[in-house]
Amino acid sequence: MSKLSFDNYVIVITGAGAGLGKDYALYFGSRGAKVVVNDLGSVKLPDGQSARSADVVVEEIKKKGGLAVANYDSVEDGEKIIKTAVDSFGKVDVLINNAGILRDKAFKNLEKSDWDIIMRVHLNGMYSCTKAAWPIFLKQKFGRIINVSSPSGLYGSFGQANYSTAKAGIYGFTKTISKEGEKYNIRTNCIAPVAATAMTENLMPKDLLALMKVEYITLVVAYFSHKDCEENGGVFEVAGSFVAKVRFQRSEGLFFGPGFTAEKFKEEFEKVCDFGGKCTYNDEDETSLSLVLNSFEKFKSNKTCFKPKF
Ligand code: NAI
Repeated sequence: MSKLSFDNYVIVITGAGAGLGKDYALYFGSRGAKVVVNDLGSVKLPDGQSARSADVVVEEIKKKGGLAVANYDSVEDGEKIIKTAVDSFGKVDVLINNAGILRDKAFKNLEKSDWDIIMRVHLNGMYSCTKAAWPIFLKQKFGRIINVSSPSGLYGSFGQANYSTAKAGIYGFTKTISKEGEKYNIRTNCIAPVAATAMTENLMPKDLLALMKVEYITLVVAYFSHKDCEENGGVFEVAGSFVAKVRFQRSEGLFFGPGFTAEKFKEEFEKVCDFGGKCTYNDEDETSLSLVLNSFEKFKSNKTCFKPKF
């Protein structure tokens, strides 16, 4: 099997001063890519001084013979981050929308500011960086985008109404952008990682954290960043070295027809929720509207409940 090379790739990674983003940056730096390390944070150095975390990662890449530049803007200023890539390396091939923060609180305690900051970093940040890279991708008919969601966005999580809403939005954005980019060879995929970083160090026991190496997540991101990757619009859970694709399942469902009442809905509710029949999935691109259209003739004339036509 040939080694995945990233020679001549320009890769922008947001929030790459620490955690997962840092590992992505080090990996791509060691595989020939020119890396833009974006992060607005800082770190304490062993000598007690503080330094910009993006600079520390850039230094580490350069020491190992790689090429990288730092950018310190917030992801909300995506055009400045993409400009750093274009000014330094002339183009951008891959955008990894990774930067993220938490503001966990039970919903009863959540304040507007906790809500707003999460939307700004995760959603506005992803929008802003992607919007700036998009015309470049369209023009060169090549682009790879990896968006970072979370199990919290796919399943919900106590104390994360703000974060899970944003992370679910990242899922929706991925689905639409992947459709719009398809014919331009722009592939957009989404991961929901679980890995040992500063974000999770207090959330999992130490022996479990030891298994959840960031390096595993990096390998998945590497494939989705490569030109060989044809996957588009995929959503993947990556918990340590466990990787699985995720899709929504729709029960067979029921048409209620003109006799539809709340009482009838109550009576038939179990049938609506029954996954034992012919189920459909969102990766088949069959929306509920297409099911209605399939059954349109029967829908117009039928007086009682009936199952959809597939
Ligand atoms: P981390 O906290 O270790 O690193 C995140 C980095 O993003 C930090 O260096 C921070 O300075 C930077 N950042 C924050 N706001 C920024 C902004 N406005 N502009 C630029 N940089 C900014 O977090 P970790 O764990 O590496 O998370 C990376 C991504 O993965 C995040 O989107 C997070 O929500 C997601 N994620 C991580 C999980 C995990 O298990 N570690 C679980 C699910 C999702």
